[in-house]
Amino acid sequence: MKFTLGSVTVLADGPGVMVHTPPLLLQLQQAGYDVDVAATPSAALFTTPYAPALLTGHPAAHWPLPDAALTANRAVLLAPSSLNAFKAIPPAERQRLENSPAGLLVAPALLPADNPADALDEWRQLASPRWLVVPPTAHTPLGALGDILVAPPETCVEWIRRWQTPQDLAGRRILITAGPTAEDIDPVRYLTNRSTGRMGGSLARIAARRGATVTVVHGPLSCPLPTLPNITPVPVRSAQQMFDAVDAHLNDCDVAILCAAVADYAPATYSELKLKKSDRPHSLWDMPDALPLRRTPDILAHLGARSPRPFLVGFAAESDHIEENARLKLMRKGCDLLCANDITEPGSGFAVSTNRVTIFTRTGDIHRLPQLDKDDVARKILDLVAEALG
Ligand code: CTP
Repeated sequence: MKFTLGSVTVLADGPGVMVHTPPLLLQLQQAGYDVDVAATPSAALFTTPYAPALLTGHPAAHWPLPDAALTANRAVLLAPSSLNAFKAIPPAERQRLENSPAGLLVAPALLPADNPADALDEWRQLASPRWLVVPPTAHTPLGALGDILVAPPETCVEWIRRWQTPQDLAGRRILITAGPTAEDIDPVRYLTNRSTGRMGGSLARIAARRGATVTVVHGPLSCPLPTLPNITPVPVRSAQQMFDAVDAHLNDCDVAILCAAVADYAPATYSELKLKKSDRPHSLWDMPDALPLRRTPDILAHLGARSPRPFLVGFAAESDHIEENARLKLMRKGCDLLCANDITEPGSGFAVSTNRVTIFTRTGDIHRLPQLDKDDVARKILDLVAEALG
């Protein structure tokens, strides 16, 4: 039998079935779910039963779903759903759904005429706490109807993952640094490194999925952060700006995970004018033969020296003497956990989707992880964080 993360029935409504439903079905399947579709009478005006069957490999589901289908590993997702579509579910039918062990999620679609604040208030009153309401965040064009505001397919998939995930980090506030920093030389040139921000994005996604409120202070990223309501991005550019932003958020966090590849050195001076190359003897505005540098502040060491301080997780990108360097770094920077990876190993470190990390604890334990997808590395790190927080 094919392994799946579970079953999802998408209840599609209205013309959204033409635009929102196809990518949602494909993304749910890519994420590992077994998916089928039921259409409301209003969606049936815009599609035939064959279209969803083509995309899911299953015939259209009967609506209302039979009791036998409403099992604990099935999520029923109404997406996109107008208020009227939700109200059109007969009360007895809604009650039957709410009494079942199935997960119930609804992605409200706000119409161009809706006042978003009023409409969301009405949704909150209408949907009992059994329903996870996926906040509408993206303008989605529906032809002549104009734009509806609804959670994009990837957000709906993420909320189904969240419904399945124990909320062991609920109430925790986690500060993450991610990506490289960029140290400007002049308006055109800068110093940076190969970090993409992918590991930080994985940590943010998994922490948010487990219920934490996450702030991500990040440099210029080439892997975009997940867009979720409990992830707040704080974009910065230089190491000094990252230091200032972390310092400003320090009192609002229980855990800090510093995985940014912060530049250790920045140009000693910044030229407001573009530096020119020239054969003349040097003037102030010429490109220098050597670039004078200054040290940047060490954010992790700054946090480690504070008292009280958040639970502190550092990273160490090493190319040799990994264990020795990691232990030294853990003590020197005052971390609780240090995640070290060998950047010379294929499939570990910068610009790849996997990482092989060894986690050192302050109490002397070592957790050697195999090479894993970065989301799985994030899961293991957060398991240790959750265990330490108790
Ligand atoms: N770090 C930081 N601020 C800096 C430099 C690094 O917060 N100015 C953090 C990184 O986010 C990471 C840890 O310190 O969590 C270790 O980073 P790494 O680059 O491996 O170590 P360095 O301190 O730069 O030491 P070295 O380059 O000598 O190995």
